[in-house]
Amino acid sequence: MEKVSLPLNQIIEGDCIDVLNTLPAASIDLIFADPPYNLQLQHELHRPNMTKVDAVDDEWDQFDSFQEYDAFTRKWLTACRRALKPTGTIWVIGTYHNIFRVGAIMQDLGFWILNDVIWIKTNPMPNFRGVRFTNAHETLIWASTGKGARYTFHHQAMKGLNEDKQMRSDWWLLPLATGAERVRDGQGRKAHSTQKPEALLYRVILSSSNPGDVVLDPFFGSGTTGVVAKRLHRNWIGIEKEKEYIEVARHRIDAVQVEIFDFATLNVLSKAKSAPKVEFSTLLENGYLRSGQKLYFNKDTAKFATIKPDARIRTIDGFEGSIHKAGSHYMNGAPCNGWEHWYCQENGHLISLSELRERFRVEMGLYDE
Ligand SMILES: C[S@@+](CC[C@H](N)C(=O)[O-])C[C@H]1O[C@@H](n2cnc3c(N)ncnc32)[C@H](O)[C@@H]1O
Repeated sequence: MEKVSLPLNQIIEGDCIDVLNTLPAASIDLIFADPPYNLQLQHELHRPNMTKVDAVDDEWDQFDSFQEYDAFTRKWLTACRRALKPTGTIWVIGTYHNIFRVGAIMQDLGFWILNDVIWIKTNPMPNFRGVRFTNAHETLIWASTGKGARYTFHHQAMKGLNEDKQMRSDWWLLPLATGAERVRDGQGRKAHSTQKPEALLYRVILSSSNPGDVVLDPFFGSGTTGVVAKRLHRNWIGIEKEKEYIEVARHRIDAVQVEIFDFATLNVLSKAKSAPKVEFSTLLENGYLRSGQKLYFNKDTAKFATIKPDARIRTIDGFEGSIHKAGSHYMNGAPCNGWEHWYCQENGHLISLSELRERFRVEMGLYDE
């Protein structure tokens, strides 16, 4: 059978269902989809001073009924599912108009929802008539290809973006694409009515893909996904049916200057997750530590323990146990990760057991396996 190659870093003009079905099956690492919302706006919206609200009333957002919208949704999601690698994931963004229908269809098709993330808008459009709450968020559904499927998630990288705290599912991001980021035509009008902020895509792409992966967006619009994917050294594929948006996207992406980094800098693989397991006893058996050697609790030379031949340690007050239990003993029973709290002497310096373990992994070539 002829091997079909992927049209990497290109925008394909056409209907996303047709185009997706021409791609090789199981070839895409990550999909970000910002489909029509089916806003069902019946009339023009006006502010209290009677100026017209620049709302989303584009032809591409019109569907005659929920049934029609659901049939369309089922088709494009099915096509995405075919193109995704089994280890791939998909993000779909929407509002209350469509996201519940989309979520139910995703589950019906076998996708496994990993999170729903709320993008909280710091500058939402008010509810001008004052008859409802201000609609101040959009929802992103993140799903794998099925229950138990392996997938990419860079927990440590997300902590890095969040001052070292676990990233939560409510995202307060900078305003809707505004200012210099908002693409405008020659008359100053928005080039696309629903351009998404680059900060949103930055989080999506960084958290759930790796450099060199293929990120596909079936509703490419002004190309925000391509801009951020290029910046993060991912390959991208955009599908869009409107020529004028394709032009906008092409200009935006061509203008992105990519910094050249080495792979080690770009790679945000979680060390904790990918590091091969090494026991305390392994360090002892391999001569990285000796029985009889002293370990110091939080670098306190008065608070030490001695390593026993069976890889337990003995504190000054006679407690014997693992590095974790002995640490906990010194912390009045609080949980303790002994790797982080115990230090040993090396060439006149104190180094943590976790540092010693890391050196062992590197010197033993455990990362190369
Ligand atoms: C909500 S907008 C996406 C905006 C985009 N995320 C951005 O940041 O600019 C949806 C886009 O999908 C396109 N579209 C709608 N139906 C489509 C289809 N069946 N195939 C391909 N593109 C489609 C529309 O022309 C529109 O540009």
